Amino acid sequence: MVTVNQQRVPRKRTYLLCSPERFAVEYAINPWMDVTKPVDVELAVKQWNRLRETLVVLGHEVHLLTPEAGLPDMVFAANGAFMVDGTVYGARFKHEQRAPEAALHRAFYESQGWRFIAAGETNEGEGDFVYLPEAYGGLILAGHGFRTELPAHAEAQEAFGRPVVSLHLVDPRFYHLDVALAAIDDGNVAYHPGAFSAASQKVLAQLFPDAVLADDSDALAFGLNLVSDGANVVLNGDATRLAGKLKAAGYTPVPVELSEMRKGGGSVKCCIAELRH
Ligand code: ARG
Repeated sequence: MVTVNQQRVPRKRTYLLCSPERFAVEYAINPWMDVTKPVDVELAVKQWNRLRETLVVLGHEVHLLTPEAGLPDMVFAANGAFMVDGTVYGARFKHEQRAPEAALHRAFYESQGWRFIAAGETNEGEGDFVYLPEAYGGLILAGHGFRTELPAHAEAQEAFGRPVVSLHLVDPRFYHLDVALAAIDDGNVAYHPGAFSAASQKVLAQLFPDAVLADDSDALAFGLNLVSDGANVVLNGDATRLAGKLKAAGYTPVPVELSEMRKGGGSVKCCIAELRH
């Protein structure tokens, strides 16, 4: 029995969220979405408000995007862009149903005066890009296989001047990188090996020997779709085993309930974009 008593230090973050007032499952673009299962919007708003309050109580700054009629997935704010060092790389959605969201995110980022680079390649923002400022001097991990396409990884590398490591997602239930892997601090990750190709598993094992590994059940409970400030890890309450592993590694799990958002195929991280300005 090893006791880890590492002092984890939180770093203040700036986040972007969008209320689920107009959230619905009107089409199915991932295996979790079932158009016959109705969404309780009132409950969704309640759960999302708890998430927003949790971030504020932890000391973080929260910006809000206005939900638009006809865009039922806008609550998943992570997909609209990816921002590193004050530069924003815009999204270009794979599915036409979500395509108009990109311009709404762009308008927000431009209104803040941040440098915006429009994407020429298909990519779904923080859904498929993860940034680790302290890993190897600043490393971007990028998923492909279902949504974001490989050429977007090269485009992001040119946009940011940071190395991008491509990871191949192979299980359709983990269709975005952020449901299979998460940054738990500035230099380390938690992930579910089974979501990745054998070669990508080797890459992850080489880069992150101290990673926290999640099993199938925690990953299927959206446990990896988490947001961490380096000390506090906000994650889906169903992922109890993963919460225990994070605690053993010195983090403080902060469980939240997001059952309604799960009907759209997302949880904590999908609802949050980090603004690294
Ligand atoms: N229904 C949305 C879609 O399929 C869910 C997006 C989840 N977002 C995420 N960052 N994983 O696009």
